[in-house]
Amino acid sequence: MSEPPGTPLVKARNVHKNFGHVEVLKGIDLDVHAGQVVCLLGPSGSGKTTFLRCINSLERIDAGRIWVDGDLVGLAERGGRLHRLKDTEIARQRRDIGMVFQRFNLFPHLSALENVVEAPIRVRGVPKAEAHRRAHDLLERVGLADRAQNYPAQLSGGQQQRVAIARALAMQPKLMLFDEPTSALDPELVGEVLAVMRELAADGTTMVVVTHEVAFARDVADQVVFMDGGVVVEHGAPADVIGNPREERTRTFLARMLHEGSA
Ligand SMILES: Nc1ncnc2c1ncn2[C@@H]1O[C@H](COP(=O)(O)OP(=O)(O)O)[C@@H](O)[C@H]1O
Ligand SMILES: [Mg+2]
Repeated sequence: MSEPPGTPLVKARNVHKNFGHVEVLKGIDLDVHAGQVVCLLGPSGSGKTTFLRCINSLERIDAGRIWVDGDLVGLAERGGRLHRLKDTEIARQRRDIGMVFQRFNLFPHLSALENVVEAPIRVRGVPKAEAHRRAHDLLERVGLADRAQNYPAQLSGGQQQRVAIARALAMQPKLMLFDEPTSALDPELVGEVLAVMRELAADGTTMVVVTHEVAFARDVADQVVFMDGGVVVEHGAPADVIGNPREERTRTFLARMLHEGSA
């Protein structure tokens, strides 16, 4: 795989994370260049969610470094020493990263439109009229222009997840993180969410996507990373990692995914 020029938007080096005495991430390296889509595949428990949470400081890493757009995540260097950032500074870093979860996590008491305008108004201070105008555009982009006034309970899982994507985009993030965004959906609703994600990818959104949708990864990813047991087992172009995996663990995992997909 040829490396794009320039500094990666996300650069992770030797990232370690422990929960108590259990080492969950054992030295993860990753580069994500601006405009790239990176898909993270791997069995349950391999550390995919933990790694995503480290990228946006929902977890604090025990060793290694992560940079997003040149800034160290959660840390600052002063006088040759590293200091942990204050919570307010961590919150500021996190604003620039959109995250979409398996469970859509919409505010149940707010309409689709209100869910999308909430953070831009409260956190970024965007004027109300402008936030509403942008939110309408975003809901249209995810195919929900006619659902702006509906509450989450009035929407299907696929529609709720598309609102969640619009809500994340409303903060104009530099980077979008997706953690198994379709795995809580009924099978017939998966396609509409993946279609929105394909469009985002085509528009040049930088995305890190944890997914079991092997076909999506094969078609959309610039880079596929296969994780198991807290390490990157294999990474590269989808044609290599999915089409012609080198490692036995990758082959076993893909065979199981294909089998489940056709079951
Ligand atoms: N907050 C936590 N406390 C203790 N263990 C955790 C916590 N979060 C995750 N783990 C453990 O870390 C490992 C990796 O979990 P996770 O990152 O969720 O994997 P994946 O997303 O690949 O399924 C699992 O063994 C899980 O039980
Ligand atoms: Mg997970």
